[in-house]
Amino acid sequence: MSPEFSEKTKKKIEEIVARYPQKEAAILPVLHITQQEFGSISAEEEKLVARILGIKPISVREIVTFYTMLSRESLGKYHIQVCSNLSCSLLGAGNFVDYLVEKLGIEPGETTPDKKFTLSTVECLGACERAPCMLINFNYYGEMDPKKVDEILDGLK
Ligand code: FES
Repeated sequence: MSPEFSEKTKKKIEEIVARYPQKEAAILPVLHITQQEFGSISAEEEKLVARILGIKPISVREIVTFYTMLSRESLGKYHIQVCSNLSCSLLGAGNFVDYLVEKLGIEPGETTPDKKFTLSTVECLGACERAPCMLINFNYYGEMDPKKVDEILDGLK
């Protein structure tokens, strides 16, 4: 059975699409909503978004596979994305990832068995001045160290 958005989400998408001169320009906010609604963006959700925006499913796939905040796999409640690019690496991102691997008991690309955390390493998050940094869902955290990460993760319900 093909997925469908809830009535509330359909209205929200209509409002977003109406802001743009061309429907397909709304693809990123529509994909964020899609991921929130379904937990991931599989081939079926790609077709749904393509139908709504009047574009080919492959155009949706290209966007979904480009942006690390979008996922074709089911993510944990909290998606931790640690920057592994130059500035962050020079300031200890590798050690920081090792700390998270040990703390969470998962490798990058994996989700904890309780589905609470997914850990990923990603390219530059555009906050190099705050290196090493990470993103948890849509929140940035900079100048990370093990003590800070403990405080942040312990505060997540
Ligand atoms: S290199 Fe890490 S945010 Fe740019």
